[in-house]
Amino acid sequence: MGEKSALLLHGGVLRTRSNDTEHRFRPDSNFHYLCGLREPGALLLFRPGCDPEFTLFVRPRDLEAEIWSGRRVGPEGATEKYGADEAWPLERAGQLLPSLLDGIDTLYTPLGADDPGLMPLVHRAIDHLRRRDRYGGIAPERLQDARALMGEERLRKDEAALASMRRAVDITVGGHLAAIAATRPDLYEHQIEALLEFNFRRHGSSGPGYGSIVGSGDNATILHYVDNESLLRDGELLLIDAGAEWDYFTGDITRTFPVNGRFSPAQRDLYAIVLAANEAGIADAQVGSNIDSIYRVCLRTLIQGLRDLKLVEGEVDALLEDEKSYIHYTRHRHSHWLGVDVHDVGHYCLGREPRPLQPGYVLTVEPGLYIAADDERAPPELRGVGIRIEDDILVCTPGPEVLSAGVPKSIAGIEALVGTVPYPA
Ligand code: GLY
Ligand code: MN
Ligand code: MN
Repeated sequence: MGEKSALLLHGGVLRTRSNDTEHRFRPDSNFHYLCGLREPGALLLFRPGCDPEFTLFVRPRDLEAEIWSGRRVGPEGATEKYGADEAWPLERAGQLLPSLLDGIDTLYTPLGADDPGLMPLVHRAIDHLRRRDRYGGIAPERLQDARALMGEERLRKDEAALASMRRAVDITVGGHLAAIAATRPDLYEHQIEALLEFNFRRHGSSGPGYGSIVGSGDNATILHYVDNESLLRDGELLLIDAGAEWDYFTGDITRTFPVNGRFSPAQRDLYAIVLAANEAGIADAQVGSNIDSIYRVCLRTLIQGLRDLKLVEGEVDALLEDEKSYIHYTRHRHSHWLGVDVHDVGHYCLGREPRPLQPGYVLTVEPGLYIAADDERAPPELRGVGIRIEDDILVCTPGPEVLSAGVPKSIAGIEALVGTVPYPA
């Protein structure tokens, strides 16, 4: 951050679900990453090299309020449990911030964030210090984006981050295994979703890190399908894209498999293409490679396969240059950073160039093929089929580590697992 700089973050607010009930609180990702506190409204001020260095503002203890809406850590607990050098009740923030920011040149705070509470506080503190100029007050003159700063910090997973990341993915693996093993025709997608998320919560996960996608038949061609309400039919595929949160890190795994445990020949052909693309993409997730390169490697494999199936025509190199020729089958990019946010932070490019992968980066590799239900070019048995295979990859030496390797994806491995345990009574 440099000398005479400070970082100010807001812990987030409760969000209304309907009328007067709220969603369960989830702290702001950056706030939680730095201090671990999980309470609405809190403010964190970090001033490296100053005394105090780390200040928290938290809701004061209030026995009556705590009976209704849960325990509060209070200022005393904030210093004891979260390592703050000093902590104050929230309502003191407006009064104390000017002196805490006096002499700071650069204030890092989230720019462009949807946080109506923070900026007025910052502006009032700066304005107050400006007006103290005659008396020696020194106001910050530069605001810098804390989101960019934190993105770079979070992109390379340190030991603690990696431990949480691994745990999130391990729990995710367990959920997928349980869901695949219990799948059979005539269950509903929501029943599989329930089993998946039961297995997340039973192992202490705070729940899914994003809306679980459990899509059978042509629901699998809807990329963010979360209704999860259809009946699983014999002969169809089921696509599950879901991740468990642990310490607010999330897994992000997709598997696609036959509801009845056997791929049809046509499904098998399409699946084999996506699997080859997934494996080729993972093999390219090397130190020094980049996300664009992984995309091109996956895409080449997908296009080659689409050509073999006669869904596209022409030379692979020419097709690769003409997005319109294939994008209706491939739809999306094939990687994103993974961490506290499912689409995690950190720049994808340095300047305009794709960022070289470094040890400690975690990313997904998730190629897919989606054949629309009304695609007359496709053989009838492939119409309305969607297949995606997504793994979570740690970039390291000597080669990438597939954190999600515990969920089978080979055709034989998948077929051996589906329907092997009864759905819970
Ligand atoms: N589930 C969201 C994604 O795979 O990016
Ligand atoms: Mn993903
Ligand atoms: Mn996903």
